[in-house]
Amino acid sequence: MALKFAAKLADLVEDEPLGVTIGEERIALYLLDGEVHATHNVCTHQFALLSDGYMEDGCIECPLHQGRFDIRTGAAQCAPVTQPIRVYGVQVEGGEVFVDL
Ligand code: FES
Repeated sequence: MALKFAAKLADLVEDEPLGVTIGEERIALYLLDGEVHATHNVCTHQFALLSDGYMEDGCIECPLHQGRFDIRTGAAQCAPVTQPIRVYGVQVEGGEVFVDL
């Protein structure tokens, strides 16, 4: 378990993804129903940042070809994405968000 600081909780807005870089890792953070979730930020189809996409019904829609992933599980939801996106454990402590890399 390698918890790394990712963002302040106050920087997260419900249904608005936030892209952060931790070391070399591009991570997308999401506030969904009051809970913080984290996925890899690069789509598994081609190169696009999911944090530039659109969040709806617990899914993130890729801005490039509109593939969708479940934010909680990383599961691919529709074409053209077929591979799941990596999800990370999240811990919130003292108003700060930490991601388990
Ligand atoms: S790059 Fe994300 S769906 Fe194509």
